[in-house]
Amino acid sequence: MRRIYNAQKALAYISDLKSASKTIGFIPTMGGLHQGHYSLIEQSKNANDVTVSSIFVNPTQFNNTEDLDKYPRTIEADCKGLEEAGCDIVFLPTIDEIYPGGAAQFEVSLDLQGLDAKMEGPHRPGHFAGVVQVVKRLLDIVPATHLYMGQKDYQQFTIIRHMIRELAIKTKLVVCTIIRENDGLAMSSRNRRLTKEHRDDASILFRVLSQAKEWINHKSISEIETKALEYLNIPGFKPAYFEIVNGHTLETIDHINGVSEVVACTAVWAGDVRLIDNMRLIASDNIH
Ligand code: PAF
Repeated sequence: MRRIYNAQKALAYISDLKSASKTIGFIPTMGGLHQGHYSLIEQSKNANDVTVSSIFVNPTQFNNTEDLDKYPRTIEADCKGLEEAGCDIVFLPTIDEIYPGGAAQFEVSLDLQGLDAKMEGPHRPGHFAGVVQVVKRLLDIVPATHLYMGQKDYQQFTIIRHMIRELAIKTKLVVCTIIRENDGLAMSSRNRRLTKEHRDDASILFRVLSQAKEWINHKSISEIETKALEYLNIPGFKPAYFEIVNGHTLETIDHINGVSEVVACTAVWAGDVRLIDNMRLIASDNIH
């Protein structure tokens, strides 16, 4: 696996591959890699000539410096994992490579049309603007043919899909299903911060989402949301929201008639760890 540290070198290398008509799959990450990330690498490898990943802990998407400091930095283990997963290139930039002259120069002017105003938005002001900023910048440096993101961060990929459409970026977004532990807990770098007790109980999110999927055709949306919040309210856990939304607009819905993509999204505090998860309750086709 080739390691590239410099933005200009990365762009030159990827541009050469593109001139040779190679398809390029790109998986941006902030490190702390787990099976969920490696499954994105695998999907990219199955569909592309070259697979590129990046590890960059983007400061502009953290609204809290404590979270930024606490974010796991495990570069060597991550590179080993990427290599074993068959990744061809890893881009490992410094902050100066991504934001030379300061992040303010790389602000992206884009109306998120309220997609950032709900669910995780109010809890993390400025977070999605930071994600848009870094993904745009990374795609400028690694102009991949395909971008792979996980369904786990439903709001994140919806906003990136909006960005790609609005800015007419020539990269196809591929959204990959959530990879779960045996008990159903969605894989996440945050899971390693759970206490043993909270880890044991954390499959409650998956169980409640699965229950919502069973209920969707015979209970009202508000009844499902109320019951789900009740079920999630176990000792040590504090639900932040359980919302059933239109999967395209993220708007809450009060009935399912005529909505082709219905998704239940939830966030729950397990001690001081915020777990998020979602499930497509009604889905017309692959997410794209
Ligand atoms: O999901 C993440 O790990 C990050 O938000 C991303 C997309 C790599 C941007 O920093």
